[in-house]
Amino acid sequence: MSNRAPAPQPGILDISPYVPGESSVPGGVKAIKLSSNETPLGPSAKAIAAYKAEADHLAEYPDGGATRLRAAIAALYGLDPNRIVCGCGSDELINLIAHAYIGPGDEAVYTEHGFLMYKIATLSSSGKPVPVPETAYRADVDAILKRVGPKTKIVFLANPNNPTGTYLPHEEVRRLHKGLPSNTLLVLDAAYCEYVRRNDYEAGLELVATTENTVMMRTFSKIYGLAALRLGWAYCPAAVADVLNRVRGPFNVTSPAIAAGIAALADRAHVETAVAHNERWLPWVSAELKKLGLEVTPSVGNFVLIHFPKEKGRDAASADEFLKARGIILRRVAAYGLPNCLRMTIGTESDNHAVVGALSQFMGRS
Ligand SMILES: Cc1ncc(COP(=O)(O)O)c(C=O)c1O
Repeated sequence: MSNRAPAPQPGILDISPYVPGESSVPGGVKAIKLSSNETPLGPSAKAIAAYKAEADHLAEYPDGGATRLRAAIAALYGLDPNRIVCGCGSDELINLIAHAYIGPGDEAVYTEHGFLMYKIATLSSSGKPVPVPETAYRADVDAILKRVGPKTKIVFLANPNNPTGTYLPHEEVRRLHKGLPSNTLLVLDAAYCEYVRRNDYEAGLELVATTENTVMMRTFSKIYGLAALRLGWAYCPAAVADVLNRVRGPFNVTSPAIAAGIAALADRAHVETAVAHNERWLPWVSAELKKLGLEVTPSVGNFVLIHFPKEKGRDAASADEFLKARGIILRRVAAYGLPNCLRMTIGTESDNHAVVGALSQFMGRS
């Protein structure tokens, strides 16, 4: 009889568990939490009402096919509902895709400062994560294509990327797709697409509609303000949707999430208000931080990546400590290969003023 302990699959113990943005500060002070790219406006009141109405039906299993939600998404964007797969957050969809398409020895390519879940999901499937250098904190199509080989099963691209806030114009995404072998899946993670106001940007729906190896993912956690309900969706080629429907849990999306998601999608005025809020405050925050002598990577999302001076006492770790002592929580992004940066979510007017005021003190300008 062996006395060896149960061993997980190769790769699992190489995973550094995902550390979510912090949510509290010492001293019982109410924190200004700008660490998880949540919307400062909250969800639509109609989504909250739809969520509450589900309280009378908690004994019943949800519709495993999320049929009404998929129909609502399909109607809004003009899509085929059979090619939409909903998930418990887009995190689940990332995991399902990795689980279904990566095995031991297979590779998944993503960019140097790309969203952390790509590496975690790849290692969970005993695959090899292949990070590719970025240029000026932006995905570099040529660098990605150079690293794609026969073992590359997936290329993950967050567009816009978290935590950098940069994006690839559609022509570049097309060029990336064109350079991939037909058996490599291009996963376009468009978690922040609603915030992007650029004529040369597309989330990827057209590429999914016209190719057999592109998936686009979206989330209700950001602009829709439903992060607590865990709801995301993917638009897929029919064959990929079929695969994901085989591996997902039969009830992976809950009834309150489905109901709130449908109501949230219908409230376009709320989405427009959130976009307008971001349009007003993203440039203001970026400009004010630059006036303080901080470098800010130009962002098209609802957050900015702030680069701190390298001097001791002025670096990102010191800034983080300084801000937390004042009840302000930004996101450390060392795990993304950005040890001297903090990521700030665009908050309410008063949140934004509070951060700029505190960083102004930190930089010794006031
Ligand atoms: C690029 C990107 N993709 C996916 C997610 C995960 O979103 P969800 O809450 O839908 O799992 C996030 C959340 O931070 C993200 O930044």
